[in-house]
Amino acid sequence: MALSCMRCSPGGAASAVRRGSAASPLPAALSFARCGLRGPVVAVGWRASTSAAATAVKGAMDADVKNAAISAPPSKVENGSPSHVILDDFEDLSPLSENDDSTVSITVVGASGDLAKKKIFPALFALYYEDCLPKHFTIFGYARSKMTDAELRNMVSRTLTCRIDKRENCNEKMEEFLKRCFYHSGQYDSEEHFMDLDKKLKQHEGSRVSNRLFYLSIPPNIFLNVVKCASKSASSVNGWTRVIVEKPFGRDSESSAALTRGLKQYLVEDQIFRWIDHYLGKELVENLSVLRFSNLVFEPLWSRQYIRNVQLIFSEDFGTEGRGGYFDRYGIIRDIMQNHLLQILALFAMETPISLEAEDIRNEKVKVLRSMKPLQLEDVVIGQYKSHTKGGTTYPGYTEDKTVPNDSITPTFAAAALFINNARWDGVPFLMKAGKALHKKGAEIRVQFRHVPGNLYKRSFGTDLDTATNELVIRVQPDEAIYLKINNKIPGLGMRLDRSNLNLHYAARYSKEIPDAYERLLLDAIEGERRLFIRSDELDAAWELFTPLLKELEEKWIAPELYPYGSRGPVGAHYLAAKYNVRWGDMTTEQKA
Ligand code: NDP
Ligand code: BG6
Repeated sequence: MALSCMRCSPGGAASAVRRGSAASPLPAALSFARCGLRGPVVAVGWRASTSAAATAVKGAMDADVKNAAISAPPSKVENGSPSHVILDDFEDLSPLSENDDSTVSITVVGASGDLAKKKIFPALFALYYEDCLPKHFTIFGYARSKMTDAELRNMVSRTLTCRIDKRENCNEKMEEFLKRCFYHSGQYDSEEHFMDLDKKLKQHEGSRVSNRLFYLSIPPNIFLNVVKCASKSASSVNGWTRVIVEKPFGRDSESSAALTRGLKQYLVEDQIFRWIDHYLGKELVENLSVLRFSNLVFEPLWSRQYIRNVQLIFSEDFGTEGRGGYFDRYGIIRDIMQNHLLQILALFAMETPISLEAEDIRNEKVKVLRSMKPLQLEDVVIGQYKSHTKGGTTYPGYTEDKTVPNDSITPTFAAAALFINNARWDGVPFLMKAGKALHKKGAEIRVQFRHVPGNLYKRSFGTDLDTATNELVIRVQPDEAIYLKINNKIPGLGMRLDRSNLNLHYAARYSKEIPDAYERLLLDAIEGERRLFIRSDELDAAWELFTPLLKELEEKWIAPELYPYGSRGPVGAHYLAAKYNVRWGDMTTEQKA
């Protein structure tokens, strides 16, 4: 069966990007460019030498462009180097064999860890299964643990799954994929060990242009060691080299800026892919801009004139199980609010970007962040879950986790009210709520509209229009959906109103399985697409909003309000919302969308 990488709009001529298939006259990267989302991307090599960077540019251009027998000038220059080459006329292209003279090597640093097993290898396999990886690619696991290639493959194979909607050739594809996975054991601060890795990578790359992606799936205190060693000993000499840096990226403005400064000793900004917010890779978050900018009905309503408040809600029905050590140093505000919820807020509230180019979108997001006032302590409620027994089962409190100090006051729940001081959003509360060990798992965006002026239906029974305002709900997960709550006449001879949903339920509408966010972001990094990764000025602006509050909480040793494991969280969150005349939308009983 010919598999295809469905990266563009479903159904479009350019949508099925067949990799290495004679069926497509275009190399995949060119097909993407045709979708208007991206062109083949050329990134510079390590900062170390300008000539290496020039060779890198040339190598990558050779790989992506020479094949197309087209001589196109770079359309954009970033950091003094050409970064995008967009080809907008493919009609005259002759059939091509795709990227035959280039290869991509992906090194997962920290391959023995939880994230690598749980997310990275499965996402890479899903991309391979969907035929989205380049024809020539190799995956290396790197960590200190001793493992053979066979042992790595065995470990990885346990977490691979096939798409529910496409099980054909699954075992065959898994075997093919695993054959392209290798392992190298080494220390994170040893240039010599990275040199050994380099030798192995070269054996696989042969004489092709080598493009290298390093995924830092390791604790943050060793990010810089790895970047230093990899840059000195294992960077590509003739293609691009990129580094994905996992969260957490610092724990306040100063440490985040210090990390960026550290990375920039060895990398240029274009090579750094800050993977701080995998929520940006979630289908419904990606769809947020489409919903707003491609439907005339929404954009005119998208302001203080019609929107009363916006709610960004994240909840998990489990505690910090297994990650208490990490979590206790960061807490829920850094773990979820400062990145996942704030990024959604910025995307939601930004002005129309001039194009879908990464820089244009990121420019608009930064403007939103810089228009916001730093969070005030009086606009924040924090909580921590405590032990709770239900149905004969006792669920442990946060401080009962062995990796958490007994007297920890790290918040596992927080609610906050934020404001954007610009003409569009002045005075509109953006309420955020995030918590672990709550009664349900989910993430959603709720937009509550103003009430209908001059209510004609005061005398009708049923819904009171002065309180039952329209609400647009974007359910990011689980069970993705977008629905609009409207007031509606109950059929019959009388005039009774109720609230009903205009409902787009993804499972009912789309048969295709929704890809994991890690797939989208990994593919973007391979293609050099930065739209979903966080630029350093965006990150600075995000930290500036939260750092004063985080410091105050720590300095004043503010104790969180305790809430039982599995509950709806601290009562304080309701008072905070009430202060702004808001009711949390997820707390009302509503018709299931
Ligand atoms: P792990 O704690 O499992 O660490 C990954 C690997 O790093 C380990 O297998 C170990 O490999 C090595 N390692 C662990 N601790 C140290 C240490 N103190 N010094 C040197 N090496 C160490 O992390 P995860 O896999 O959970 O996460 C990786 C990264 O991704 C982290 O930055 C984390 O914050 C981030 N992240 C993780 C998520 C998750 O769900 N797990 C979610 C979001 C982000 P070895 O001993 O073999 O060298
Ligand atoms: C991570 C947080 O970024 O996101 C975790 O560090 C959290 O604490 C996770 O559990 C939630 O991601 P998802 O995709 O499972 O909702």
